[in-house]
Amino acid sequence: MIHNDIKSILISEEKIAETTQKLADMINKDYEGKEILLVIILKGSLVFASDLMKKINCRMKVDFMQASSYGASTTSSGIINIKKDLDNDAAGKNILIVEDIVDSGNTLASLKRELLTRNPASLKICTLLNKPDRRISSVDIDYSGIEIPDEFVVGYGLDFNEDYRNLPYIGILDPRVYAKVK
Ligand code: IMP
Ligand code: MG
Repeated sequence: MIHNDIKSILISEEKIAETTQKLADMINKDYEGKEILLVIILKGSLVFASDLMKKINCRMKVDFMQASSYGASTTSSGIINIKKDLDNDAAGKNILIVEDIVDSGNTLASLKRELLTRNPASLKICTLLNKPDRRISSVDIDYSGIEIPDEFVVGYGLDFNEDYRNLPYIGILDPRVYAKVK
């Protein structure tokens, strides 16, 4: 049972749903009458994005990007490689990036820089979680769900070593799990 590897639940399913609704309400207001190109950052944002998009009532197209950063598994290195690019042409589109978590900010700062070179009409960022204490690259977040302390969290799309994405809540991993992997 994956639940046995969780030290404690940081954010419950109810709290996630409530936060997602609040973010969608702001997005619905800001994008009224506009079409969104929703850019889901794989893989971590998959679960959040699928819940969020159902609450957005504007016209929308959906696309995916995947970035990989080289280096250690629980921190990003700052060097970002685009593993999967958009299928859509971003020029003239209202891009809304959906992220699971902004940690160092390296991934988003780099993706944002890349997408801006494609001349979108607008580019905004929505993240469910934010770890401001860990920021290295500054990045403006337009829609930020929940600020969390500097703890490594899993669930609701977030992984450790590709596991735990299917947990319905966000939890803090038991440190003995890291010990096993190392
Ligand atoms: P950043 O480039 O350091 O901001 O990291 C962004 C990516 O690192 C996120 O999209 C996540 O995939 C991953 N990440 C950062 N913090 C955590 C965490 O606490 N748990 C799981 N993944 C994380
Ligand atoms: Mg990840």
